[in-house]
Amino acid sequence: MTQSNLDQYCVFGNPVAHSRSPEIHLTFAQQTNQELNYKKQLVALDGFSSAVKSFIDAGGKGANITVPFKEEALALADELSARASLAGAVNTLTFKDGKIYGDNTDGEGLVQDLIRNKVTLNGCRILIIGAGGAAKGVLLPLLSQQPLAITIANRTVSKAEQLCQHVADNRVHACDFTEVTQQYYDVIINATSASLSGKLPAISGEIINKTVTCYDMVYGKDITPFLKWARKHGAINIIDGLGMLVGQAAESFSIWREVTPEILPVINKLRTSFATD
Ligand code: ATR
Repeated sequence: MTQSNLDQYCVFGNPVAHSRSPEIHLTFAQQTNQELNYKKQLVALDGFSSAVKSFIDAGGKGANITVPFKEEALALADELSARASLAGAVNTLTFKDGKIYGDNTDGEGLVQDLIRNKVTLNGCRILIIGAGGAAKGVLLPLLSQQPLAITIANRTVSKAEQLCQHVADNRVHACDFTEVTQQYYDVIINATSASLSGKLPAISGEIINKTVTCYDMVYGKDITPFLKWARKHGAINIIDGLGMLVGQAAESFSIWREVTPEILPVINKLRTSFATD
């Protein structure tokens, strides 16, 4: 089979050069004996829907969507999954029978990574720091694991309150950072973009103890500022977002190919590549 006869997939974004999605999906394809092609495409800021349509016309089967097009992808879809609807964003499009299906696999990527790390979500108390798109995207998948409570703490408390109203689930509460002072949480998830600029959310270190799990949705070559802070305050179980990245890709892959790839070898491969990047 030539490259052009293969099923075609793509990640659309701007910027997109940094995306590891082609490498991840091609590794999944190899692992599961699927014949497909996956590329990345830089899309002009005003060119998203025409880029998707051209890709469909050229026989594209599915696409991942990254910043800043996740909301536009939601609007473009003919049908949405419940988790994409609640997230208000789509990261996975499937083109089938003349229709565009929109889904959001980010939250499932996080849940699967927590489970893989042996974190029990059923009955636990979760603190989500941040109330932007990243927090919104993971709420429904986290709730489906039956936690006892989810607290959303945000620097701008009105945004946490809005998100809480949007979810409309009596297990979910909003507060500002000054109310988060006690060792009450089992799992603390940093969903702010603070780590990206080397900053920390102004949360009291008092909330950390050695049994809590601290998760940063961000990842990098070095430990993130949030996880460094958590470790300094006594956390032992600290996890960065690399597994979430690979997990969301695995969930997209299984939607498209109906086979679930293994994520651990891909996490290990990426972690090793950081050392040489
Ligand atoms: P994303 O889609 O990555 O979630 P976003 O929607 O812009 O991006 O949201 C960014 C989140 O990070 C917000 O919750 C933001 O807090 P505010 O709503 O108060 O702006 C949070 N954030 C970013 N930098 C932060 C910092 N230095 N300290 C605390 N929170 C921060």
